[in-house]
Amino acid sequence: MSNIEKEIAELAHPELPNHNDEECLALAEKLMSQMTLKEKFGQLFQLAPSNANIEGLQWQETNDFNDLIKQGLVGSILSVADIKEIYQLQKTAVTQSRLGIPLFFGYDIIHGCHTGFPINLAMACSFEPKLIERVAQVMAFEASHNGITMTFSPMVDLVRDPRWGRVMESNGEDPYLNKLMGQAYVKGFQQDSLSSYNSIASCCKHFAAYGMVEAGREYNTVDMSERELRQYHLPGYKACLDAGASSIMTSFNIYNGVPATANKFLLRDILRNEWGYSGFTISDYTSSYEMLDHKTSANEREVAKQSILAGLDHEMVSTTYIKYLEELITANEVNEALINEACLRMLTFKYKSGLFDNPYKNIYANVDQYYLTNNSRQLAKEAAIKSIVLLKNDNQTLPLKPTTKIALVGPLGKTNELVGAWGGLVKNESCVTVYEGLVNQFGQANVQFAEGCNINDNDSSLFEQAYEVAKNSDVIVLAIGESQTMSGEAKSRAYLNIPGVQNELARKLKSLGKPIIAIVFAGRPLELEWYQNNVDAILFAWFLGSETGDSIADIVSGKANPSAKLAMSFPYTVGQVPVYYNQYKTGRPSATGKYSEFRSCYIDVPNYPLYSFGYGLSYSKFEYSNLQLSKKQISGKEKLVAKVTLTNTSSIDGVEVAQLYIECKSFSVVRPVRELKAIQKISLKAHESKELTFEIGANDLAYYNIDMEFTPEDTDYIIYIGGCSNANISDNFSYNS
Ligand code: GLC
Repeated sequence: MSNIEKEIAELAHPELPNHNDEECLALAEKLMSQMTLKEKFGQLFQLAPSNANIEGLQWQETNDFNDLIKQGLVGSILSVADIKEIYQLQKTAVTQSRLGIPLFFGYDIIHGCHTGFPINLAMACSFEPKLIERVAQVMAFEASHNGITMTFSPMVDLVRDPRWGRVMESNGEDPYLNKLMGQAYVKGFQQDSLSSYNSIASCCKHFAAYGMVEAGREYNTVDMSERELRQYHLPGYKACLDAGASSIMTSFNIYNGVPATANKFLLRDILRNEWGYSGFTISDYTSSYEMLDHKTSANEREVAKQSILAGLDHEMVSTTYIKYLEELITANEVNEALINEACLRMLTFKYKSGLFDNPYKNIYANVDQYYLTNNSRQLAKEAAIKSIVLLKNDNQTLPLKPTTKIALVGPLGKTNELVGAWGGLVKNESCVTVYEGLVNQFGQANVQFAEGCNINDNDSSLFEQAYEVAKNSDVIVLAIGESQTMSGEAKSRAYLNIPGVQNELARKLKSLGKPIIAIVFAGRPLELEWYQNNVDAILFAWFLGSETGDSIADIVSGKANPSAKLAMSFPYTVGQVPVYYNQYKTGRPSATGKYSEFRSCYIDVPNYPLYSFGYGLSYSKFEYSNLQLSKKQISGKEKLVAKVTLTNTSSIDGVEVAQLYIECKSFSVVRPVRELKAIQKISLKAHESKELTFEIGANDLAYYNIDMEFTPEDTDYIIYIGGCSNANISDNFSYNS
């Protein structure tokens, strides 16, 4: 055992005092009064040792980042996961800098630290915030025992364009669901106290509206009205901050012509003055430098000036602060008070995190004892089962009988590359493959595999072999889709097809006339019209992480009953994009959504998506009936109570996500055709009925009116309740202020 390993093994983890916010602020103020100006702006820099871009520091005699740490010029570290490296960096800061201020360690723990959970867009389809909170707690436990202080999660950018590769880490297209999911992640990560040994700090992102990059092209421009920003996009970030998120990350894009990283409207007017937020802001990776490419800054000195004036506290990787802030203060172009404000936020955070009480609080020996446990795998499997969306199931093709002879065909059948983008420290090797899962469930003799083709090339040389394997089976289970590297950051696609020659393989196998079940993997909605019209069942499996194989096998065998609902619409074709359920009606609405001359429509595809937000099937059958409203009119703060009967008319126990939408009949501005306002996830035994109760009040009816005031208006509404955004059980009521 090396000396470092011995030191780590001897680290103690005593109960830490739980300083309240006021105490942390007081301790931070006291410490800051001892700091030099350099040490203050040193707290505003996040170093990425893997990309120590610190060349050109005028007064820096060496480019060794350990020197920077010893000078107190590094506040935090990005993307280091090796526990020994974390220990050494922290020990340098604590024992070799003048004031021994500890570093914090940030990492992207998005949908798994070591245990792989489904991608976030998949877990959003669970419509189960409590599940998200439990998953985030496990991610926090594994990360907090791997030296990590903060995760750059949740991502709560609202999305509508599946061409954008980062829809995979979002919560989908609806602002209400996005809020529920975002706050659940924050609660699960941070729990009751940041100084707990099992919690990590949450940094929500990307502020703001990064999900609306034009044409779905990564890092592209964003342009929208303030009304659109406030109505659809800000609620997700605010929900995270209201849930206590310790930090918020600025986005790469511009808002209203100004890069978010130096956008005073976002970082001061909204974040501080309107929302009263006291946590710290952090830039995205080199988003400060990128202001040079946006051409809003002529040089790095201007970048530093514009950013600190706009309210950026912590600079990720870019080094304009530690290069130029001293000069800007000396030149009276920046007031030292701004540095103090930002530095105080950083120090207060570190006190809250317990780092001053125990700088090594997240450092443990034998890290692997804390992850991929039976419990974490069990939760990963539960989350995966709740994320798989049953899109089609004709003639009850699914579930399969135990004796079914399965031909598993497709490039996703035996691969373990099932983690998904932004997989943290999750290894592909931790993933149970589809083949392994089906064999575990149906037995080796009943599962024959043929790859059929690769994911993304035009080699069809394996088609024949797959055809032969399929010929001798009862059913064909296709395992097809994107590779996990085709979505995530910098992975926009102009097409939404299943890539390569996989579709051709499916068509060839169709000629056998056997039942076909398509299991589709992707980090985004894909074009599935041919499958909707030509196969018997479709499961959308996203990327499910460590428990992929066994969760799919449980669904395919009927051990588990699908309950997921789409958090993002699936277009017929990329030509429809963006297509989403809460669209505006337009002045020429098409009654059918199909072509009719001089109405808002296409001549070649319908207006609506192939599968809409909120859609998902079950092996059970659910019916909604007897919708009753407590009143036909509510006023002021009165609540409307809506009751509906939900019945499982099948002989299979199941779970339904009941969704309540409103439609506003008239308002001072245009409103969407429908707006999700409540969800309830209900278990129902075979043939069981339950009465569901929903409450709706003024705040649910409010919208940014013609004067940009968030308020309801005296008008009529329709309530819709059902198992999808096209729910048709409805009733009317009116509101008077
Ligand atoms: C990336 C991402 C951001 C991530 C950060 C640190 O570029 O945009 O989401 O948290 O860098 O890895």
